[in-house]
Amino acid sequence: MYILLMGPPGAGKGTQAANLVKEFSIPHISTGDMFRAAVKEGTELGKKAKACMDEGRLVPDDVTIGIVRERLQKSDCRKGFILDGFPRTVEQADALKSILDELKINLTRVIDISASKDELIERAVGRRICKKCGATYHVKFSPTKKEGVCDACGGETYQRADDSEETMRNRLSVYEQQTKPLIDYYQKAKLYSRIDGSQQIEKVYDDVKKSLDV
Ligand code: AP5
Ligand code: MG
Ligand code: ZN
Repeated sequence: MYILLMGPPGAGKGTQAANLVKEFSIPHISTGDMFRAAVKEGTELGKKAKACMDEGRLVPDDVTIGIVRERLQKSDCRKGFILDGFPRTVEQADALKSILDELKINLTRVIDISASKDELIERAVGRRICKKCGATYHVKFSPTKKEGVCDACGGETYQRADDSEETMRNRLSVYEQQTKPLIDYYQKAKLYSRIDGSQQIEKVYDDVKKSLDV
């Protein structure tokens, strides 16, 4: 299965990707996670990405397309993948098409998870992530048993630098302007499924699976 997860910031792409990884054992490729890893390592890529991410802007297309091209060429992507948060511009979508054509891969489905602006902001601001294993929580919707401590591995949880309400508003307007046109792009390609992301996490996952016919 070659799945593309779309949707505004905070919609639940990462949460649903984690469910798909558990069930189908295919790699989860999140450009946001890749950039955050580069920032942590202090690489040149990380420095470039950090300035954009902190303001809620997109990292330039050439940089982003380059890292995705490299990642998709790895052999673990042959049996399937979940792309999360890429593409986010029409230029990225065109580049993805040519990368997949070269690899002779056809996308199975483009799943767009939606939620209202107020829900998206509440989700992002309350999100907590484990420093050690990356598990995602929410202070209200999926809290850890002990505050600040990951249920899965005991690691410390933290808040993402771009999860303030102010930066989140910028990210949402960037989404409206640059990423929303992709809905039409994938509708025309007859690959598009929209899912109501305002439901409970388990219900959203049921709908994800329905859209994949599994
Ligand atoms: P990225 O990391 O991709 O962030 P995003 O798209 O803004 O999406 P999020 O990760 O914030 O949300 P999500 O949909 O994964 O939600 P989650 O499942 O965690 O990108 C960050 C930055 O990197 C960008 O701003 C940009 O600068 C750069 N970047 C990345 N990709 C790029 C690209 N292609 N081109 C250029 N730049 C790029 O859920 C959120 C919270 O809600 C969690 O706390 C979760 O527990 C909770 N939750 C989830 N589902 C539910 C539910 N159904 N009910 C209640 N709570 C829920
Ligand atoms: Mg995410
Ligand atoms: Zn953990």
